[in-house]
Amino acid sequence: MNNFFEVNKDAWNKRTIVNKTSAFYDVESFKQGKSSLNKLEFKALGNVEEKSLLHLQCHFGMDTLSWAREGAVVTGIDLSDEAINTAKQLSHKLNIPAEFICCNVYDVLQHIHKQYDIVFTSYGVIGWLPDLDKWAAIIGKALKPGGIFFLAEFHPVIWMFDDNFQYIKYAYHNEAVIKETQTGTYADRNADIQYEEYSWNHSLSEVINALLDHGLSILQFEELNYSYYNCFNNTIRGNDGYWRIKGLENKIPMMYAVKAIKMHG
Ligand SMILES: C[S@@+](CC[C@H](N)C(=O)[O-])C[C@H]1O[C@@H](n2cnc3c(N)ncnc32)[C@H](O)[C@@H]1O
Repeated sequence: MNNFFEVNKDAWNKRTIVNKTSAFYDVESFKQGKSSLNKLEFKALGNVEEKSLLHLQCHFGMDTLSWAREGAVVTGIDLSDEAINTAKQLSHKLNIPAEFICCNVYDVLQHIHKQYDIVFTSYGVIGWLPDLDKWAAIIGKALKPGGIFFLAEFHPVIWMFDDNFQYIKYAYHNEAVIKETQTGTYADRNADIQYEEYSWNHSLSEVINALLDHGLSILQFEELNYSYYNCFNNTIRGNDGYWRIKGLENKIPMMYAVKAIKMHG
């Protein structure tokens, strides 16, 4: 298992170097005060002022720091040291208080020393995790009783397709690890980088049952037929400003979100 994480860490370090200067992430607008968060997570979490928030797989920290700008007391964790170093630099430069920790999600309880009001994770996260039962157990332990967990994610149906959305390539359920060699990154497809990566497809029932099994109750569940991000091939932008796959517009789900509450200690 460690080899999977080592390979993925190297992949994410390479991606981060490109992502942080990409038009996709638009760090300049963020520096000038633009939030990187979306309607879905704003609506679900509401007022976060003074709430403690643990952000799992925070990449280079834009969303974490956006929550801090909303008044949350934030901790962001990520496997990539390149991403965490960039997040720390942004926090320092913009004078936004935040704690950033470089660690594997599966080791996070060794690094945090309190329970949180909110655990947040979003868009391109659980596919890097082989074991959702272990993931949900950690979320359950990291939350205070009554604390809220929020996940916004790309829909598992998306990950069944080949890169160009021409045919079904992968199983819907988590049948086996997927090994791929990639070039570029979703933020800049022509970037001169190449790397290997390991990922896992997770069905909706796998996500929901893992959370239920670890003391979380589902408060809200949504599926959306568009993506906020233009991070796939063969996309088209709708009048609403959101992205869909050409030829499959409004025929497939593209994102989903789960809001859950930790019921007891
Ligand atoms: C798509 S990004 C996060 C998305 C975030 N919404 C963004 O775009 O800023 C996925 C992140 O997961 C991190 N990651 C992958 N596997 C991980 C693991 N096992 N533990 C912690 N972080 C991990 C990667 O380093 C990467 O920063």
